[in-house]
Amino acid sequence: MTETNARNHPAVEKYAQHVNPAFVKLLGVFGYGRAFTRGRDVWIWDHEDNKYLDALSSFGAANLGHNHPRIIARLQRLLTEDALNFVHVGPSIHQGELAARLARAAGPPLEIASICNTGAEAVEAGMKIARAATGRSAFISCEGGYHGTSLGTLSIMGERRMRKPFEPLLADCLLVPFGDLHSLEAALKPKRAAAFVVDPGLCEAGLITPPEGYLAEAQRLCSKYGTLMVLDEVQTGMGRTGSLFAFQAEGFTPDILALAKSLSGGIAPIGATLTSAKIHHKAFGSMDQFDLHFTTFGGNAMSCAAALETLDVLEDEGLVTNSRELGARLLADLRARLDGHPLVRDVRGRGLFIAIELGPTDAGWMNRLAPSLVSAVSKAMFGQWAAVKLLERGVICQPATQHWDVLKIVPPLTFTQEHADLLVNAVFDVLSEYQGVAPLIKDVTGRVGRQFLTGWSF
Ligand SMILES: Cc1ncc(COP(=O)(O)O)c(C=O)c1O
Repeated sequence: MTETNARNHPAVEKYAQHVNPAFVKLLGVFGYGRAFTRGRDVWIWDHEDNKYLDALSSFGAANLGHNHPRIIARLQRLLTEDALNFVHVGPSIHQGELAARLARAAGPPLEIASICNTGAEAVEAGMKIARAATGRSAFISCEGGYHGTSLGTLSIMGERRMRKPFEPLLADCLLVPFGDLHSLEAALKPKRAAAFVVDPGLCEAGLITPPEGYLAEAQRLCSKYGTLMVLDEVQTGMGRTGSLFAFQAEGFTPDILALAKSLSGGIAPIGATLTSAKIHHKAFGSMDQFDLHFTTFGGNAMSCAAALETLDVLEDEGLVTNSRELGARLLADLRARLDGHPLVRDVRGRGLFIAIELGPTDAGWMNRLAPSLVSAVSKAMFGQWAAVKLLERGVICQPATQHWDVLKIVPPLTFTQEHADLLVNAVFDVLSEYQGVAPLIKDVTGRVGRQFLTGWSF
């Protein structure tokens, strides 16, 4: 498989003209453009029937792989049952069932779930619960954190580029360094923060994991100062890091838990915000408060049925265990194969969430002579370039959205050892071509030049 030109797919022109012209142009800079048309389990096909191994899982939304047959069958059944997708004049049967199931999965005291449609909504619901329950207004979050792009979640976004065009956002939002308990305690001390919003590992900053015990201690500090901890497991949840929810491997329970993405098997839009009955009661517990947080499609039957089936599939197919065990083997294999590579700084991960950090190391003469040049080139393009080269070898993956020098390996949890071996070989082959920045600059400039001459052909 080599470079392809998908311009002839009619949907691409329409997308470029009517949806997001700049995105299509950007895909054309390196020639990443493909019209992906179908997916099944860990495989995705483009319109020319080229087959790709998926190591991205739709940014963590397809933990079950694509179009899991049990989710499809469950939804097909629902569509023949004359089910009411929502009834707002009485309790929703499907929502009740899903909330009870989530409460069982998360464990006490997280027994009340508010179901919505996206990750941003789930986090923002947590922020609203925290304000209403504490009567405080401020929020603390982490530098490098990503929680969505609604105005509320942008206010706690740890990446300035994403926030700036929309400012002023919510007042009273403070960023602290991730993993730094002293800064967190200093921010909590004035007792003005309704919530500390944090994800278990900074997913979009390149899977930065905190020092051991950080999250549990952060929760303890939050409780000490009357702040609620909102744990954003939109990406880490549903088995991604080797336990159903990442907090379950950390020996603590957050006040509020936000879920989304893979919760419905990647098929129906869904998000969920879990908290204790006590906190929920403070926020929305009276008859003049019960409707303060509401959205029409939140908890619709399609999404809830898909989520209930997803939880069953995760259990029946042992996917959380697979994430933990295969993830550990994949991490070890990648580390062994990339050991000593002059442009691989770190290979880290938890479960099937693995990050390869690219950049200068002590090895390689150019790294020693011109580390800032090597660092700048790696930061600006290496991750994206590696993703293009992997695509051309039939593997889909992407760098972290906020750190292009970190390649994320986030495959469906249905990955097998055979898929992992294919992936490791492809990563090794691609990175082996670049033992220094000179071949990287040569290849990238050559490709960009050619793409320029074709008018950034998709
Ligand atoms: C950790 C985290 N939180 C929240 C979100 C926002 O989710 P959504 O895109 O469904 O709004 C994302 C999306 O990537 C995420 O990774």
